Amino acid sequence: MTTSSLKPSSMNAPPVDSPFLIFGSPLIEQAEIDEVVACMESAWLGTGPRVAQFENDFAAYQGLQPSQVAAVNSCTAALHVSMVAAGLEPGAEVITTPMTFCASVNAIIHAGLTPTLADVDRATRCIDPGAIEAAITRRTQAILPVHFAGRPCEMDAIMAIADKHHLMVIEDCAHAIETTWHGRKVGTFGDFGCFSFYATKNVVTGEGGMITARDEAHITRAKVLALHGMSKDAWHRFGDQGYKHYQVVEAGFKYNMMDLQAAIGIHQLARVERNWQRREALWNRYMEAFANLPIGLPAPPSPDTKHAYHLFTIMVDEARCGISRDDFLNAMNARKIGTGVHYLSVPEHPFYHHRFGWKPEAWPNAMRLGRQTVSLPLSPKLSDGDVGRVIETVSGVIRSHR
Ligand SMILES: Cc1ncc(COP(=O)(O)O)c(C=O)c1O
Repeated sequence: MTTSSLKPSSMNAPPVDSPFLIFGSPLIEQAEIDEVVACMESAWLGTGPRVAQFENDFAAYQGLQPSQVAAVNSCTAALHVSMVAAGLEPGAEVITTPMTFCASVNAIIHAGLTPTLADVDRATRCIDPGAIEAAITRRTQAILPVHFAGRPCEMDAIMAIADKHHLMVIEDCAHAIETTWHGRKVGTFGDFGCFSFYATKNVVTGEGGMITARDEAHITRAKVLALHGMSKDAWHRFGDQGYKHYQVVEAGFKYNMMDLQAAIGIHQLARVERNWQRREALWNRYMEAFANLPIGLPAPPSPDTKHAYHLFTIMVDEARCGISRDDFLNAMNARKIGTGVHYLSVPEHPFYHHRFGWKPEAWPNAMRLGRQTVSLPLSPKLSDGDVGRVIETVSGVIRSHR
């Protein structure tokens, strides 16, 4: 990656008393705080009635039956368990995107499967169906699309490929709780949908995740796998219905969600649309404010879809902007604006290079995007003044280098 020297700009230095704007800071309200206190006072901290309520609420929000969802302690766990529950042959290939968080790929590896990458579309940053088709071999058994930044992947094309080649589909919906594709929620197209409630996500529980599945039998298996492979969960064993012996039916994991986490999630989920509307307004304000800067902006949502507006990503191309992406990140940080990088393409990381021989150049779109991308704050917690500060700072840094 290239660097250029930073030109100091006093024009857009933050006022001395302005606080650091933390990237991805969640909006926590009194309802969550009261529910967590009530949960602690009930002394039922582990998996119990609040997790059951959160599962029911989430199922209703996604238009599913409660028997089609399972709460877990992260999206990483959801992806791992889904891929084990999918029952694929050991070592089978799973096609995913290089423009994702490492968890998508690591979960494939931990499930004893082999990740293969298919490049993204340059404009949408989602996996390119044509590249999926080109990556299919006789060992391919699944596709793991990631609805990047909350924008839906092209699910009609992906499901057509899956049907043609008899592949399972596990959707990574970490960014995409609100996302729809042609009137239908993402996570309901494939065999599994995996959601994240990590602290920066659109609905937060601190750490947390949800598995959804078309087939209820997959959820039954996922629930067993997520709690040690035990046939009954602790809530049912220690409730007031009398002691029930559990049986271990396979070697599972410790991935259950706690009631303490669900206590936050129940109220976060109740406000999911309000927060989405706020992020949409921030997104539109950024689009308007940056229209005349030489930075790349996100593609507009495609027709008949709902974008979850999880990340607002700009592209800083040194040739156009006169400043490298990494120097831009440092300049924002120096001016007290937190930013993110979503993501360096997966093959940029040494582990994947050593294990699979992957080189970033083999997936050029993801490589280029990963070397230029910057995520700006988009939390519903941001005040209008905070957003004004972000806009002024981005514009100031870019203009001072032109
Ligand atoms: C695309 C994607 N997949 C998976 C994950 C993993 O989610 P979690 O932190 O809940 O395990 C993340 C988290 O950032 C993500 O962005």
